[in-house]
Amino acid sequence: MARIGVLTSGGDAPGMNAAVRAVVRKAISSGLDVSGIKRGFAGLFDSDEFVDPGMDSVADIIHRGGTILLTARAPEMFQPENQDKAAERLKAEGIEGLVIIGGDGSFQAARCLEQRGIRTIGIPGTIDNDINGTDLTIGFDTAVNTILEAINRLRDTATSHERIFIVEVMGRDSGHIAMASGLAGGAESIVVPEMKYDIEVICRRLIRGIECRKSHSIIIVAEGAADVYELDKEIRKRIETETRVTVLGHIQRGGSPNAVDRLLGSRMGSMAVDLLNEGKRGLVTVARGQSIVPVPLTECLQDKKPFAEDLYELAATLAR
Ligand code: F6P
Repeated sequence: MARIGVLTSGGDAPGMNAAVRAVVRKAISSGLDVSGIKRGFAGLFDSDEFVDPGMDSVADIIHRGGTILLTARAPEMFQPENQDKAAERLKAEGIEGLVIIGGDGSFQAARCLEQRGIRTIGIPGTIDNDINGTDLTIGFDTAVNTILEAINRLRDTATSHERIFIVEVMGRDSGHIAMASGLAGGAESIVVPEMKYDIEVICRRLIRGIECRKSHSIIIVAEGAADVYELDKEIRKRIETETRVTVLGHIQRGGSPNAVDRLLGSRMGSMAVDLLNEGKRGLVTVARGQSIVPVPLTECLQDKKPFAEDLYELAATLAR
């Protein structure tokens, strides 16, 4: 193999740049040419979206959030004729192997390119941590720490006014971020798409907190699980107390990646190039405990990542 490509796709995540840097530098040091493809899969349909990062172009990016390659969601990749076009474009550019840094949707596109003869290696990059088969995705740890920082700040004002705060965090289809930040942030209740919630239980817990003279309470809600403003209304109907809603939004996706995400990006990016050099394909680099290992792309795509119900229960127990 003489040339490989790398792209970032879907929602950006802190640590993607560390992965791009590792792919580019490892490729060049092992004698491969490497092309960066801008704006994810969308870049494959545009004549000007290829860049050729040399060693220097990835200097000074390991600490930066976002992705220097830019990213996009590319619904056009779900159409077979566009998948054909994308594979043809890669072949025309002489790209035999492609490293795809992204989430679930990006890996579905990877599978389509695999079926069309492109050697693909996936690197899980999404703040959602919702890829089956990996303990961690690039960006999750930084995002959870960003949320914890926000919760700490909210606690100051919540305590001063003795208020209840309902905090919406990201996670359209999954509650891993909500669960981790709720447990680590000492939230009284956590609302996630994976688990049914009962407004009466939430309110009973809030009332118990008021009776125990708790200075404030925090409810963490994954964006896909409930409408925070509706939840607020329901709570106000049942409890005479002051509440406030905070939607953290895209603040959670930005910022300098922490050590965990820089290490993940560096190790996974390096392994992705090793795998292509060894002639391997259709794999994803995943985190298992302290190790990074390759698993088949199909394993990541076949099931939804299990939700850690035990940790969810633990959060409820510890919130007393
Ligand atoms: O990348 C994942 C994610 O941040 C989800 O948690 C969130 O639901 C979604 O992306 C938001 O997407 P967009 O930035 O396209 O609004």
